[in-house]
Amino acid sequence: MKSHTLREIAGSFPSHWDRHYAASKLRTDPLYEALAADLAASDLPLLDIGCGIGLSAHFLRSRGIDVPVHGLDYDSRKIHSARQAATSAGLSGIAFEAHDARKGLPDHQGNVCILDILQFFDPEAQETLLRLAASRVAPGGLLLIRSGIRDDSWRFKITVAGDLLAKATRWMQAAPTHYPTHEDFERILSPFGDLEIRPLWGKTPFNNHWIRFTRRASGG
Ligand SMILES: C[S@@+](CC[C@H](N)C(=O)[O-])C[C@H]1O[C@@H](n2cnc3c(N)ncnc32)[C@H](O)[C@@H]1O
Repeated sequence: MKSHTLREIAGSFPSHWDRHYAASKLRTDPLYEALAADLAASDLPLLDIGCGIGLSAHFLRSRGIDVPVHGLDYDSRKIHSARQAATSAGLSGIAFEAHDARKGLPDHQGNVCILDILQFFDPEAQETLLRLAASRVAPGGLLLIRSGIRDDSWRFKITVAGDLLAKATRWMQAAPTHYPTHEDFERILSPFGDLEIRPLWGKTPFNNHWIRFTRRASGG
C-alpha cells in the first residue's frame, strides 16, 4: 500500500473546500493519530459510522493500516467526495455508503468508530446507536468514540458554539441536539466490556474526549 503524506491526502479531494478542510483538520486534530494508535495492532475490519469525507480511512492507510474499512454517512455529497478521493489516491479495501445511522447499522463484526457525530442524536437515539455499535464489535475488538462531553467546563460551551457554527455555515446538515455525559457512556457500555475515557482535545479549545471500549468475550 502506498504511503501518503497528509498533504497528498488533502490533494486527492476534488473540491477546493474539501482539500482545505482535509489539510487543516489532519494537521490540527489529534483524532486520527489516536485512532491509528488504537487500531495499529488489530487486523479486524473497521466500521466508520459518520465517516464524513473519509479522512480516517486515508489516515489509516497512510500509517500502513490495511484493514477493510466500511464508511457510512447520511450526507451523500460527502460520500461522493470520499469515493472520489479514495479512487484518486489509489486506495483499496475501502467502501463508502450513504446511510442514515438512525435507521440501524449494517452487519459487521470487527472494530467500530463513531467520531464526532453523537451530538446530532437525541439521548434515546444515542443510546440505541451505542448499543448497536457495541453489538458490531468482535470479542476483544474496539469501539472507539470521540465525543464532546457535557459538563460545566468552558470547553463544553465552546464545543456547542463550534457545532452551531458548523451548522450555520452548512458544513453540517444538522445542529447539535444533545451531548452525552461521562456517566452516559459508563451506564450504556460498561455492561458489555471495559471502558476508558480520557481528554482528546490537543490544541483545540473543544471539550473532546476519547472513549475506548473493549468488548469482553462474553459481553452483550
Ligand atoms: C463532525 S463530522 C465528523 C466526520 C468524521 N467522522 C471525521 O471525524 O472525520 C460528523 C459527520 O456525521 C455525519 N452524520 C450526522 N448524523 C448522521 C446520521 N444520522 N447518520 C450518518 N451520518 C451522520 C455528518 O454528515 C458528518 O459527516
